[in-house]
Amino acid sequence: MRHITFANGDKMPMLGLGTWKSAPGEVYQAILWALEAGYRHIDCAAVYQNEKEVGEAFNKAFSDGLVKREDLFVTSKLWNNAHEEHLVESGLDKTLSDLQLDYVDLYLIHWPVSLKSDVMFPKGGEDYLTYEQAPLSGTWKAMEKLKEAGKARHIGVSNFNISKLQEVMASAVVRPEMNQIELHPYLPQEKLVTFCKEHEIALTAYSPLGSSDRPKARRRDDDPVLLEAAVIQEIAKKHQVTAAQVLIAWAIHRDIAVIPKSVSKDRIIQNLAAKDVTLDSEDLKKIAAIGHQFRFIDGSFFTEVPGSPYAQSDLWEES
Ligand SMILES: NC(=O)c1ccc[n+]([C@@H]2O[C@H](COP(=O)([O-])OP(=O)(O)OC[C@H]3O[C@@H](n4cnc5c(N)ncnc54)[C@H](OP(=O)(O)O)[C@@H]3O)[C@@H](O)[C@H]2O)c1
Repeated sequence: MRHITFANGDKMPMLGLGTWKSAPGEVYQAILWALEAGYRHIDCAAVYQNEKEVGEAFNKAFSDGLVKREDLFVTSKLWNNAHEEHLVESGLDKTLSDLQLDYVDLYLIHWPVSLKSDVMFPKGGEDYLTYEQAPLSGTWKAMEKLKEAGKARHIGVSNFNISKLQEVMASAVVRPEMNQIELHPYLPQEKLVTFCKEHEIALTAYSPLGSSDRPKARRRDDDPVLLEAAVIQEIAKKHQVTAAQVLIAWAIHRDIAVIPKSVSKDRIIQNLAAKDVTLDSEDLKKIAAIGHQFRFIDGSFFTEVPGSPYAQSDLWEES
């Protein structure tokens, strides 16, 4: 398994298991199957509302000797309603208590969008905090303290565009070590990827398979199905692997960590095997030439709520 190596030498396995939409009744078993199969990187978040069950699976795996804590890389994310500087630590404390851990390996600001502390998802303008009310620099300062305290071994962001990264970096003592963003052949985000690499910010690709189980409110009938893309199918056939394995291998070829979600034992095993799939230069050229752009998780659930102080330009630059 290839790794991303942080400045202090810590290593993060390039392939991990995603847990968004993994229902509490399913995620416990999915984590145990993944750890048995050899995954050592699990991507979590408070807003997925399943961290308690993830924590129960970790506890079982540690007590059965399936994996040692120090051999497991756990990421979690600060939800938008805990961005105020004085709330950030309590956000992580709740996650640590749910995950039954003393520290996470990586803690990310989930979105550059702030909500009032009693709001999970915004329904109207009154549910938000503006950048003036909850400056990202303040949230980041509190994240730096979590790193200093050792509760988060590494800190970073998610869904940050170039200008938001620059804003945080302008006042940061510790620069973001990771940016977790949507990345797949329909959204290669070359400019943002190049910027992050130039600034030694590692990348993680989310929704690498096209997030086909994303909530109905976040999809339209005519949305493309990434796993069915002709070029991906053709490359899969050539190498006698699956389309999912081609998509996972493509991220790893770009030196980008990748976190496909599955709650099916067969697919969990199949996705991990993608680490051994080698794409050749012809495959990479064909994927680069796809040209079709599509963002599956477009953040409109934050920007299009009536009265939202946030615009799409706060989330995405043209790529
Ligand atoms: N930072 C963020 O804002 C953010 C946003 C989105 C996602 N994420 C993270 O990234 C992870 C992955 O993204 P995602 O969950 O949106 O979508 P994804 O991993 O692109 O796709 C998940 C879907 O693909 C299916 N699937 C998995 N393996 C497959 C295979 N080998 N063949 C065919 N279908 C397969 C899954 O079904 P089964 O489960 O039934 O196998 C599920 O329906 C998330 O779970 C989360 O941890 C982060």
